[in-house]
Amino acid sequence: MSKKTSAEAVCVVTGAAGFVGSHLCERLLGLGCRVMGVDNFFSGRWENLTPFRDHPRFSFLERSVTEPGLLREIAAEHGPLACVFHLAAIVSVPYSVDHPEETWAVNYQSTIGLLQEAGRLGCARFVFAGSAAEYGDDARLPLRESYAGDQTSWLSPYGEAKYRSSRAVAACGDGPRGVALRCFNIFGPRQDPSSPYSGVISRFAEMAVRGEALTIFGDGHQSRDFVYVSDVVDAYCRAAGLVASAPEVPAGIYNVGSGTRTTILELARMILSLTERGESIRFYAERPGDIRHSVACIDAIQAVMAWRPRVSLEEGLRETLRWMQSQGA
Ligand code: UD1
Repeated sequence: MSKKTSAEAVCVVTGAAGFVGSHLCERLLGLGCRVMGVDNFFSGRWENLTPFRDHPRFSFLERSVTEPGLLREIAAEHGPLACVFHLAAIVSVPYSVDHPEETWAVNYQSTIGLLQEAGRLGCARFVFAGSAAEYGDDARLPLRESYAGDQTSWLSPYGEAKYRSSRAVAACGDGPRGVALRCFNIFGPRQDPSSPYSGVISRFAEMAVRGEALTIFGDGHQSRDFVYVSDVVDAYCRAAGLVASAPEVPAGIYNVGSGTRTTILELARMILSLTERGESIRFYAERPGDIRHSVACIDAIQAVMAWRPRVSLEEGLRETLRWMQSQGA
């Protein structure tokens, strides 16, 4: 399956101890890559590294992406870099509202710094974790890549920093070929359910496994585009040119979603049915700043990367619930 994996070249994954980053490291190791993971554990977790920490082709640096010279140091020790996957970020939207300057430094300035350094080191590929938050509250559905622009009204410093970073990555002319993946609502095992702002699926899964009522903010008719983590990881690998059957991917910005909308009420009912529980839902006031509907247009990624979502919502929920049960939630 792997195309340009070489025993020599190193893939750097920032945010390696995070939910998506840890799944990506595992997949890259499976493809035969050497992987250098970087994380400062601001929101990443040691446990996420456990399944592959001792893999002979995996190395790890506990560092922040805001530190200049990070990639140079890695290349000096481990050799040429094949690809930088930049996933490290402040991931909490409310935190970004309370800490706009820190968010700008971590989520935008570090992206620019890493891009420039990757260019100087002759690294061929740079794949960035963009977000559906780059669209703000745009009502034109499904959301097409061209809809986000300088006139977009982002709902948070998080959204603006992700937008400006994606633009910079995709426009990096003489540097590495840059691909930004605008991911919609990612879910799956290892997503941390512990904060009130955690993804809705991780929260519902934990509540269902504990036998608690699921909490819906608002009427439950708001909808989201849920995409399973292994499909997202597949998009990262295609963007980096690591999937043999996939075409060469030009620089650009691509949505990663299922292309379908699910309401929060439908989601709650699916989870209750999969855990064989009756209707056990509590309704609370709508969350301030919540967008109403969100769904990705996935024509571009399908055409350019021959990517499509393979894991259905139900299948993904079963896996997530199995994992949550194994955590003794
Ligand atoms: C998600 C991202 C956010 C990003 C946005 C862009 C997460 C955690 N958040 O926010 O970073 O800016 O996409 O589109 O991935 N809900 C409940 N009950 C709960 C939890 C949530 O009803 O216990 C509702 C929320 O009010 C919301 C929906 O579920 O309407 C989805 O919430 P959430 O998973 O936090 O994601 P987004 O708000 O879409």
